Amino acid sequence: MHHALHALTDELRRLKSAGVKTVSVSDASLLALRRVVASRRSAGAAEAVAAPRVEPVSPRPAVAASAVSPALQNYVAKTPILSRPVAPVAAVTHLPTPPEVKLPAGDKAVRWAALLAQVTSDETCRANVRPGKKVVLGVGSLDARIMFVGEAPGAEEETQGEPFVGPAGQLLTKMIQGMGLKRSDVYIGNIMNWRPQMPTVGGQEQIGNRPPNEDEMRYCLPFLRAQIEVVAPELLVALGSTAAQGLLGFGSFKALGEIRGQWREFAGRPLMVTYHPSYILRNQSNRSKRLIWEDLLKVMERAVLPVSEKQRGYFLER
Ligand code: URA
Repeated sequence: MHHALHALTDELRRLKSAGVKTVSVSDASLLALRRVVASRRSAGAAEAVAAPRVEPVSPRPAVAASAVSPALQNYVAKTPILSRPVAPVAAVTHLPTPPEVKLPAGDKAVRWAALLAQVTSDETCRANVRPGKKVVLGVGSLDARIMFVGEAPGAEEETQGEPFVGPAGQLLTKMIQGMGLKRSDVYIGNIMNWRPQMPTVGGQEQIGNRPPNEDEMRYCLPFLRAQIEVVAPELLVALGSTAAQGLLGFGSFKALGEIRGQWREFAGRPLMVTYHPSYILRNQSNRSKRLIWEDLLKVMERAVLPVSEKQRGYFLER
């Protein structure tokens, strides 16, 4: 019981840190939980449960959530006193070995189509996508000289099956246009091919996003490498800390500020690390915009794209 209570409190803490404010527990389960806590208290082993509010529900709504830890799943499965406040939609932990991507012979379109087929039929990718949502591969020109790499699909992306179509994507499109290019001139991919799942209540839509964990990024990386192989861009641009960690290695830097604006390398290609467009959505100052713009100027210079005086001065006025 001791171990089970720990598993439960750990899971509740995790759900809380993921933004979950309430979980549903039946009256009977709540009573049983209170008894357990009371017995531990009286034994002098009380432990504060820093957790989402636990509310009795009657009748109990259907509650769906993903990413339930194996310890809690095991506990809930074996323990009749708890209702099942969360039911795993898909396991996001313990992912299998990353896939081996085999690209066929042929031109870029043939190879990319084969890759799309492999990603969208990949069992692990599919298991991590909720019903009605899509596995997402990159988009853009297969002859792009510049490939942008973001983090993971969000709500709009998993609905449409295309990266960067939500608010951050609209800003990325403007950034690309600021460089004198069209969105269709470049290639835009993500570290992840699915939206990292978070628990939802009552089968509702997921609210908010979480960064992918190391396992998830490792699993999807072969798909990104294959896109790089097919498109063969001259330059890569990592958007944000998660993308940079996915490409350069988890824990390879502490803060993005340490490496942003610097040229690194991935898959034998120069890689510029800059902020994610969502950083600008949160910090609308010219100073923030200028930081990201300076990184993009470096990309333009390295790609030998024309840079006008006007472009050079974007966001300089404070
Ligand atoms: N943010 C990302 O990093 N990728 C997307 O596709 C959308 C938002």
